[in-house]
Amino acid sequence: MKGLILAGGHGTRLRPLTFTGNKHMIPIANEPMLFYGLRHLASGGLREVGIVLGDEHEGIEEAVGDGTPFGLKVTYIHQGAPKGLAHAVACAREFLADDPFVMYLGDNLLEEGTAPLVAQYRASPADAIIGVTPVEHPSSYGVVEMDGDAIVSIAEKPAQPKSNLALIGVYLFSPKIHPIIAGLAPSRRGELEITDAIWKLHQSGGRVAVRRVNGWWKDTGRPEDLLAANDLVLRSLPPERFRNEGTVGPRARLRGSVRIGPGSTVADGAEVEGPVVLGANVTVGAGAHIGPGVAVGDRCTLEGGTVHRSILMEGAEIRGPVTVTDSILGRAARVTSRRTRPEALTCVVGDATVIELGPDS
Ligand code: DAU
Repeated sequence: MKGLILAGGHGTRLRPLTFTGNKHMIPIANEPMLFYGLRHLASGGLREVGIVLGDEHEGIEEAVGDGTPFGLKVTYIHQGAPKGLAHAVACAREFLADDPFVMYLGDNLLEEGTAPLVAQYRASPADAIIGVTPVEHPSSYGVVEMDGDAIVSIAEKPAQPKSNLALIGVYLFSPKIHPIIAGLAPSRRGELEITDAIWKLHQSGGRVAVRRVNGWWKDTGRPEDLLAANDLVLRSLPPERFRNEGTVGPRARLRGSVRIGPGSTVADGAEVEGPVVLGANVTVGAGAHIGPGVAVGDRCTLEGGTVHRSILMEGAEIRGPVTVTDSILGRAARVTSRRTRPEALTCVVGDATVIELGPDS
């Protein structure tokens, strides 16, 4: 069995967020999002994994290499234009050969990984197994309508969803999917939809099994989803991930699960309430209050300030008595405060960035 991670697509740039890289490299609990998918495939017992890349794929090949650190053998597949999830599978046809494969959308995170899906296939082989979970807004997803265990309909982002069961972006396919994809026509939005391929497979008598996933799942399409995923991942990291490899002042207060990376310092008087991960060479000053739910990238500086439920990417800085919550700071971004109330807002704001100010700001 092989694995296929999709990391191309038009969502390559995350908006609104100034992040000058591929969105699959955005850190969740200080690790690129894509790494979670790779680990999920490895822990599902897969060894050969293809990564589908679009034209904007900076940083991915350098970070993942040949896959050895993940226990995988990685092959890169170029998709170019984002012509749909089924098109991505068609681009990987040679790599996939006639093996069954797990397809994993690179911007998804799920607690249970892929092992249960692989185990289900081994116990009872099907032509496709699709992971589903109930959601609040099904019209943003592929939607499956069921009658007991029987599939009644499958539709991609229907305006009038027939159920609240969404496809979660983790699928298992037998090679029977390939001739169906080869015969697909582009959908209304001009894409070759994997949802259409699954529906056609079902209609032509293929065995399509539905798996309701256990635990949490997040599609990280929007900044608020990234923050929720960051929080969920921080809360489910195993205890060994919270080692202290830095220097903590004797009068610093640490509570809960806190990871302190090599070369990082937490000064006397600072407070850190886990779950929190601090990368390498992070400076936490005396007045800083961090956590819970905060991931701080390498070389960040927090001199004073209160930070809750946020992601700080490499080299970001927070200085002065500011409270930052539910925020994402891009690389080398700075949030500071002045001693006197400024006459006007002074800032350098990147493309499509969001700033929310109160009435007194
Ligand atoms: O998140 C689950 C949903 O994912 C499912 O419910 C939908 O049925 C499925 O179509 C998909 O919808 P999205 O709108 O979230 O798909 P998106 O365009 O964001 O692409 C998902 C991932 O696949 C993302 O990591 C980019 C990658 N991709 C996407 C396209 C369209 C590719 O690699 N190539 C592509 O051509």
